[in-house]
Amino acid sequence: MLEQLEALEKEAILAVEQAADLKELNSLRVKYLGKKGPMTEIMKQMGKLSNEERPLVGAKANEVRTSISEKIQDKQTALEEAELRLQLENETIDVTLPGTKVTLGTTHLLSQVIRELEDMFIGMGYKIAEGPEVELDYYNFEALNLPKGHPARDMQDSFYITENTLLRTQTSPVQARTMEQHDFKNGPIKIICPGKVYRRDNDDATHSHQFTQIEGLVVGEKITFSDLKGTLTILAKRMFGEAREIRLRPSFFPFTEPSVEMDISCFACGGSGCRVCKGTGWIEILGAGMVHPRVLEMSGIDPSRYSGFAFGLGPERVAMLKYAVDDIRHLYTNDLRFTNQFAAKEMGE
Ligand code: DAH
Repeated sequence: MLEQLEALEKEAILAVEQAADLKELNSLRVKYLGKKGPMTEIMKQMGKLSNEERPLVGAKANEVRTSISEKIQDKQTALEEAELRLQLENETIDVTLPGTKVTLGTTHLLSQVIRELEDMFIGMGYKIAEGPEVELDYYNFEALNLPKGHPARDMQDSFYITENTLLRTQTSPVQARTMEQHDFKNGPIKIICPGKVYRRDNDDATHSHQFTQIEGLVVGEKITFSDLKGTLTILAKRMFGEAREIRLRPSFFPFTEPSVEMDISCFACGGSGCRVCKGTGWIEILGAGMVHPRVLEMSGIDPSRYSGFAFGLGPERVAMLKYAVDDIRHLYTNDLRFTNQFAAKEMGE
């Protein structure tokens, strides 16, 4: 019986060594160590052995079983490793192959114009202020000298949410909010406020129910109309070229007195008259003026001591003029054929 066990061990080990894959190895495990295998057969016959022989055969049987199962375990590890290696080899990535091109987004033309203006004003010591788009009627109108029922409210058809809240129609409410909070111990007010505004207009080539504005406000001691004029001249030259001249025409805004509209000499023809300036040589750019004493007063600022100027311009208009965009809707419909044209003009990114 001892020889029988030894022969079995030899046979099993040889078979295990030659097993080609895990499946075959598993059937060898069943064949040699399984319940119906030769080991079980041998154990069954142990009862017929003499008392001297039994422990010897028993010990040998255990030794053979352990040896076979160890061999199987080793083989299993080896086969698994080989399988993994093969899998890794098959899955290797050729890093030298050309990749799929990932297209990068670009800064939208409108954002480019807004950032350019922000940079310019930050360079002149202004801070950027923000206010809510859902605004109180009080800040959007009343605090700007447009009491309820004022006819100038009609110029800005509004989206009302409740009787006292609306989507702001202009960025001017940020003026009132800023002035109300300001402490002149910290110096004069010098802010610009870029942001979205909303009006109940029907969308067409020059109107959009939502657009952007940039508001400017400077309030301090001895701020004069010349300061406004100087600032607007710098703005015009920086945005539309050093050769630009400005012209201020009397106008009306309830929150400024006097109020003006600023034109720049046409950058397309230099002033001789063309299609861009509709033959006049001048292009209207923005509204501005000296902050109305009542507006200062309503925000708790003493108009006998402090004065200021304000202006409001539309980045859409600047973008459309500068880049000859003929329909404001191009700025909002996000056709990539349009937006991608301005990728190269991006600054600093
Ligand atoms: N809020 C005005 C508008 O939407 C634009 C404006 C004009 C703003 C004159 C100002 C200003 O601050 O002084 O039509």
